Amino acid sequence: MTTELRRRFLLDPGVCYLNHGAFGAAPIPVFETYQRWQRELERQPTTFLTRTLEPALADARRELADYVGAGADDLAFVPNATTGVNVVARSLRLEPGDEVLSCDHEYGACDLAWRAACEARGAVYRKVGLPLPLTPEGVVEAITAGFRERTRALSMSHITSPSAAILPLDRLCAAASERGILTVVDGAHAPGQVPLDLARLGADVYTGNAHKWLVAPKGAAFLYVHPDHQRWMGSAIVSWGWSDCADLLDHSDCSFVHRSSWQGTSDPAAYLSVPAAISFHRTYLEPRHGECRQLALDARAQIAERFGCPPLLAADMVGQFVACPIPCDDPAALHDRLLARHAVEVPVFPFGGGVVVRPSFAGYNTREDLERLLAALEIELGRDRT
Ligand SMILES: Cc1ncc(COP(=O)(O)O)c(C=O)c1O
Repeated sequence: MTTELRRRFLLDPGVCYLNHGAFGAAPIPVFETYQRWQRELERQPTTFLTRTLEPALADARRELADYVGAGADDLAFVPNATTGVNVVARSLRLEPGDEVLSCDHEYGACDLAWRAACEARGAVYRKVGLPLPLTPEGVVEAITAGFRERTRALSMSHITSPSAAILPLDRLCAAASERGILTVVDGAHAPGQVPLDLARLGADVYTGNAHKWLVAPKGAAFLYVHPDHQRWMGSAIVSWGWSDCADLLDHSDCSFVHRSSWQGTSDPAAYLSVPAAISFHRTYLEPRHGECRQLALDARAQIAERFGCPPLLAADMVGQFVACPIPCDDPAALHDRLLARHAVEVPVFPFGGGVVVRPSFAGYNTREDLERLLAALEIELGRDRT
């Protein structure tokens, strides 16, 4: 389990860690960069926060923008994708009777953000049920059949949380924009797991985490907004960045990035470490993407065969993590037994009327990790190898 690459992470060497998808994990050199920034700040907080920070953040933002294929002025740092979705949901000027469309594979906290924003404005947050097993065609058909006269926005994950499915976003964005529907993408799992070219993807708004698959320290994410939509986009809080806006309601005369810049005194070290994370990812993790994806596909096939539960989605929708149905009545107890008895950390949760186990295969995972998961599942689910 402890390969050379695994030793470059801070993860407990005694645990077979198959849950990178939940919170990421930062490698030691990236974490050291993060701590260096924190020490530099604390050495002279005034100089750091009033002089050093702004140009350093602009450099980090430029590198991240390049990495995701966006213009540097079209992307602002936010602490996490949940904040990104909240900013959009609260900024969108919905009218009573308008609708925001989504699906039943979305992340729960973001569902709540949209529901709260819609309820505050008398609008409707409607979720389309996607047909299982998922296929790209099935997703496009179900979503486009769900468009209505009053659908103002389509909000979808790039890679879903409970089903770990890469959705056909380019087709969804094209179909929505043809009808004048705003596209908002929750890309929490995408940066570092799939190549991103936001300028070509066609999404109007896209939020993504650097602290998951791009291995930045916790608290590093971004919100991209196409120039056509920056005028109405607010920020998580109103602070000094808004001081140039003559009209705080309209705020079209000050830039989106500027409005999002100073968000009160906080620790910017995670944002400033993003270039180190990109560099680590390019050198050590990107080259292992194919092997990791193969492990995910093998997990999907092996679990389906050993436990008699067909896969949730088509193989071409699988990236570096995979949600596999299993015969289990008590997901929380199974999770705890896998950890306590086998030192395997893997999420197990209810989904789609059953229970799924969702192993992640990050660059530091190996085939032995997959074998250990399979052996532990066989013991705990009481099945013999067939
Ligand atoms: C699809 C999706 N969106 C949003 C989030 C939230 O990410 P964060 O906690 O970094 O805001 C997650 C977390 O796993 C997720 O899976």
